[in-house]
Parts: sequence; C-alpha cells; structure tokens
Amino acid sequence: MRTSRAAAPAAAAAAVVILAAGAGTRMKSATPKVLHPLAGWPMVRHVIENASALRPAPLIVGVVAPGADKVAAAFSPHSVVVQERPLGTGHAVRAALPALAGHDGPVLVVFGDAPLITPPTVRRLVSACTRARAAVGVLGFVARDPTPYGRLILRDNVLEKIVESRDASPAEKAVTLCNSGVMCISGALLPGLLAGLTNRNAKREFYLTDVVALARAAGHHAIAVEGSEAEFQGINSRAELAAAERALQQRLRSAALAAGVGMQDPETVWLAADTRLAGDVTIGPCVRFGPGVSVGAGSEIKAFCDIEGAKIGRDTIIGPFARIRPGSVVADRVHIGNYVELKATRMGRAAKANHLAYLGDSDIGEASNIGAGTIAVNYDGYGKHRTTIGRDAFIGSNSSLIAPIRIGRGANVTAGSVITEDVPAGAVAFGRARQVTKTGRAGQLRARLKARAKK
Ligand code: UD1
Ligand code: MG
Repeated sequence: MRTSRAAAPAAAAAAVVILAAGAGTRMKSATPKVLHPLAGWPMVRHVIENASALRPAPLIVGVVAPGADKVAAAFSPHSVVVQERPLGTGHAVRAALPALAGHDGPVLVVFGDAPLITPPTVRRLVSACTRARAAVGVLGFVARDPTPYGRLILRDNVLEKIVESRDASPAEKAVTLCNSGVMCISGALLPGLLAGLTNRNAKREFYLTDVVALARAAGHHAIAVEGSEAEFQGINSRAELAAAERALQQRLRSAALAAGVGMQDPETVWLAADTRLAGDVTIGPCVRFGPGVSVGAGSEIKAFCDIEGAKIGRDTIIGPFARIRPGSVVADRVHIGNYVELKATRMGRAAKANHLAYLGDSDIGEASNIGAGTIAVNYDGYGKHRTTIGRDAFIGSNSSLIAPIRIGRGANVTAGSVITEDVPAGAVAFGRARQVTKTGRAGQLRARLKARAKK
C-alpha cells in the first residue's frame, strides 16, 4: 500500500460487475444459490443494494448463467449479461465487457454469493485505488484457514500477484493474506488486461486474479487493502447460509438497538434487511419480521408475532401471537391482540381486534371494535371478496361476515351472527336463530336421555 499523499483526483463513477453465474451445487437445491433468502431478501439483492450505495451512483452489471431467468430478474432494473459457459471468474468479467463499453472509471468485481461485505469497506478500496493511482486493488483479509483462498503476494507493499491455492508453491501457501474476491480495476485498462488471461492453471480456468500480475508486468501499480474476514464469508452451503443469516441478524439487531428500539431478547427477534422500526418501538421475544415492514414510534410488538409486508402506525399494540400478512396497513393507536390474523387489511385509527379473529381483504373503520372469533369470510373457493366496515361499528363475538359485504358506520352486529346482507349505518343486525327457552323442562330432558342410554 502506498503512503503518498498526492491530491486525490475527483471520483469517477464506478461500475460494479456482480458475478452470479456459478452453479452453487453444494446448496443441493433447485433454487439458484444467489436467490436463497437472507434477512428476507434474495442473497444477491444484498450485494446489489450494497453496490448501489456507492457515490456517484454506479453502473451495475450482473453476470448470470444461461437460462437463469429468475437470477436475471433479481437484477432488475440493472442490466445482465449471460456467461455462456462457466470458464472462470476472468471469463465471466470478459462477458460483461460489452455492457461496460465507454466506461473508464473504476470497475469493481464482486461475487453474488458474498453478501456480508459492507459499503464502507468497498468505498475504502475504491478510494485507496484512486489515491494510489493503482490499476488494480484487491480487498484482502487474514484468514483463519487460508486453504480455500487465493493468496496475495506483496513486495514492499505493492501487490505483485495473486496465486490460487492449488497453484501455489509451499512458500506462497504459507502466506495468510487472502483474496476476498473483491477487486477494483481501472476501466480503461480492463479490456487489455482480460485479453491477456490464459487458462494455464490447475483448474483450466480463466482466473480474474491473474490481472494483477499482468498489470504489474505492464508497469502499472497494484495494491491490497485489508478488511476483516467476517465480511468476506462466501456462501456455498446451507450451513454457511445459516451462519451468514446469524451474522446479518446480529448487525440488524445492533443497528435497531442503537437507533432506540427496545428488545427484551434481541437474539430471538428476526429482522429483514429493510425492516423500518421507529424510535421507542418495543419488541418482545420471538418476533419475526418478513420483508417490507415499517413500525411507527411508540408501538409495541408483543411476543410471538409474525409480521410481513405491513405498515404499522404509531402507539399501536400488536400481539402477543398475532400474524400480520402482506398488504396490511394498521393505523395509529390500534390494538391487535392474540391469535388475530390480518391479510391485506386496513385497520383504521384506534380500531380494535383483541382476540381470535381472521380479517382478510378487509377495511375496518376508525375506532370500530371487532369481537373475539370474528371471521371475514373472504374466500368462496374461487375468488377473494372484500369486507368493509365503517367507523365506530361494533362486531359482536363469533360473527361471520360473508364477503363481499358492507357494514355501515356505527352499526352493531350482534354476537354469533352470520351476516350475508349489507348492514346500513346505525342499524342493528341479528343473523342468528331465535333462542327457545322451556321453563322447568331440564329434569324431564335428563330423564329421557338417561333412559335412552340404558337401552
Ligand atoms: C475466488 C478467487 C480466489 C478468492 C476466492 C474468495 C479466482 C480465480 N479466485 O475463488 O482468489 O480467494 O474467490 O472466495 O477468482 N463465477 C462465475 N463464472 C465463472 C466462475 C465463477 O460467475 O465461470 C462466480 C461464482 O458464481 C462466484 C464467484 O464467481 O460467485 C467466485 O467463483 P468461485 O468458483 O467460487 O471462485 P473460488 O474458487 O472460490
Ligand atoms: Mg468460492
């Protein structure tokens, strides 16, 4: 690494090439490796979002395998190129060259299966390359077990070459500074460097890592920038995916706690990468947030809730044991209690559903009360239908609201009703059989039942 303090040239926009054409066979899955979920997002989305954090905004290009349509879709709206055959990391970057035409700022190469690398680390590499006027810069780390990695061979702080483990001499194998895979290469020099790659190595692959020696041979400068191993963990197996999930959850929880979110047992709270929790939200034990959730200030999510794709307002109480499914919007000061499920349902301000209810495709007006056991019967076996309840309505316990149905403002649905017709504002609806009470007849009934049991 150079220490000269020459004035830094103005930052040019970078391009980021994300390699995702590998087979990922060790996952033993029909799902492509980079689409396996991590903190609620497909793995590769973390890499894309981290790349997007670079300033000025970079050009992002994904390299995918032929027929990997779902992987290509995950890159949208960024462009993708297809690497026809997996002939190595250098070959993969070559496939991206047409998409990089005209770009002469730095080109970052990152792997789609290394989602833990943080934007500051990547920025550190780019600015070190700019400062040192290096043709190539590589993020390295001291590995606990260097066996699977390429080794960074430095002389006088200049990176001379990268040697893959299988091709390394015993002396090179003893080097513990390893290649993370993240490289920053001058866009102007990249086509020429890639043209010089050969596959004369143990794997018969075109190694991207060989651009270091090629750049040095052509008289260019190359540097290594050190980072921490924890960020560079690649994911090849289910076990490594689980380890990455644990690491990412740790980061997300720490960030939430630091931002003023209360958690009784952080280790049991599962967040998505995009979970937005305002200050003074408190979260009980064993709560899972799927993607697309925001919770407003002062709200409490009690134990054992599962929330996904939902916007929760301020000073609202959810749970324990509530399930809020995608498309739900819960306003301020709402109470959702135990064993209540919401699906694509809007709960107006200060509305309550405190026990045992299913509210699907529903619109619940402000300050309305939904009694225990209420079901919005939204599915007839073919289509989904809406239930609309006005403000200040009261739905008695154990009512079935057969959608499509509208209950007007201030209406009262008596407990145990099956409601099949709209209820106008201010009306009372009884949707149940009239009770018959026979005075003094209980003894007679018991005698008859006893006699029948003896036969
Ligand atoms: C690579 C580096 C090694 C580094 C290690 C870090 C090379 C030659 N070696 O080795 O120095 O220590 O990563 O984990 O670069 N890919 C393609 N097309 C291909 C081949 C690979 O898109 O033809 C993608 C893979 O999907 C993967 C990434 O490139 O995301 C890395 O490929 P991989 O085969 O895992 O490289 P390693 O042998 O681990
Ligand atoms: Mg690898």
